[in-house]
Amino acid sequence: MKNTKEINPRDSYTQSPWQSTLTAISSTRPEAEVNDEFDVIVVGAGITGITTALLLQKAGKNCLVLEAGKVGFGTTGGTSAHLNTFFDATYPEIESDFGAQAAKQVADSGKDAMAIIAELVREYGVDCDLEYKDGYLFSENEKETEQLREILAASLRAGIAVAEAETNELPVPFDMAIRFAQQGQFHPLKYVGALAEALVSLGGTIREDSFVSAHNVVDGLMEVICAERTFSAKHLVYATHIPPGITAFSFRCAPYRSYVLAAKLKNGNYPDALVYDMQEPYHYFRSHVIDGEQLLIIGGEDHKTGHDDPEGAFARLEEYARKYYNIESIVYKWSSQYYIPVDGLPYIGRLAASQENTYIATGFNGNGMIFGTLAGKIIADQIQGIDNQYADLYTPSRLKPVAGFSEFVKENTDVAWHFIADRFGAEELKKLSELKRGEGKIAEFKGEKLAIYKDLQGKVTALSPVCPHAGCIVNFNMAEQSWDCPCHGGRFDISGKVICGPPREDLTRITI
Ligand code: FES
Repeated sequence: MKNTKEINPRDSYTQSPWQSTLTAISSTRPEAEVNDEFDVIVVGAGITGITTALLLQKAGKNCLVLEAGKVGFGTTGGTSAHLNTFFDATYPEIESDFGAQAAKQVADSGKDAMAIIAELVREYGVDCDLEYKDGYLFSENEKETEQLREILAASLRAGIAVAEAETNELPVPFDMAIRFAQQGQFHPLKYVGALAEALVSLGGTIREDSFVSAHNVVDGLMEVICAERTFSAKHLVYATHIPPGITAFSFRCAPYRSYVLAAKLKNGNYPDALVYDMQEPYHYFRSHVIDGEQLLIIGGEDHKTGHDDPEGAFARLEEYARKYYNIESIVYKWSSQYYIPVDGLPYIGRLAASQENTYIATGFNGNGMIFGTLAGKIIADQIQGIDNQYADLYTPSRLKPVAGFSEFVKENTDVAWHFIADRFGAEELKKLSELKRGEGKIAEFKGEKLAIYKDLQGKVTALSPVCPHAGCIVNFNMAEQSWDCPCHGGRFDISGKVICGPPREDLTRITI
């Protein structure tokens, strides 16, 4: 595994290839020079937050971005960075749940997001390895082929350039393949880092290591509390996936972990395309030159956060990769988090009337680079009072009681189960001595459930395993050395510090 000394931090223990390209943002101004009042405050400096702030700053708004970690700390630093005009919610699903017109709009919005990225790259001369390639989706059995034919037909109806193909560009046998023209890939931290620099050069402010603990509405202004300071603005954008606190979105989006490997091959047989199978969970393939070395990027084995064994997921992914590729070495392996929306489409834009100057962007599924960019445009337009043609389609206040209903029930049953079973389930008493170094467990100790962790030096720490968000019990993620909440995807480092919302507080430390 790569272990560069200086890397961009991420909300995970494993290292993605993007982190070794430092995006040192020369944005941190002396504290005294940062004003308290802004037009817009954006919480979160991933692709969504930075794109939103840049578009608004360009339009003359004075923006402040508050980031709990560093720029790209969250999923932007751990994405596999695919740029697509077809999505995890397929066009047949969108047609059936939202109608044919909506499917066309989703297709158009994806193309527009691709165009925004291309335009920002051109305008700011961004060197981010942006490349356009064909994208292939392939089936491996009759059932998948039937679905693939439906995807082909619905994609064409939505106005996407796609056709049946003779190849899938992989050594993986296939039944049928289709080729989407003009898909893309880039280096996400080079891209977002450059946009952040552009934002600062236009007079915007980015404040890193700035955890937002609360906001209040005072005299029509949003007051945002961030450690020892309070900032205010007319508009507040939560570009943090799920907005903090317990909101409807805690129940409308389910958090998932996704696993990725970057491997050096013995025979140089790298795919010159972006390729996806149709398995459940699916696998995807592409290649990228990182530090002068071409690597195969292969991902998949996704599962709901806090539910499966992350180390097992990495092992299955590696086994799958080795089945088809002659791998010389695995250079990087990493995981990151995304959110599946209950009806398939992201929630982007202004919240309902009662919170009308608050904006969110979440539920991007595995298509965060495209929907994060699109969210930047939709929210920037709304704040400027410009009509955006996609605002209604993606509105967070939509109610789709039928669409995605079975998934909704499944996700929420699961959340409810954790609320109850985690509290009262009979967890086996674990002796502290059973813990291996680098391992964490939920154990009962003197009648109390504890989250126990033994570090590499053998020192044991104990935390309350009760997630401060809504009271679910966290699980240990060995691969990422974190405590992950199975309910809404909150994550905490081994000291209990929150590294991924919606929780706003750390796990409580317990003295044992
Ligand atoms: Fe909601 Fe933990 S993230 S209960």
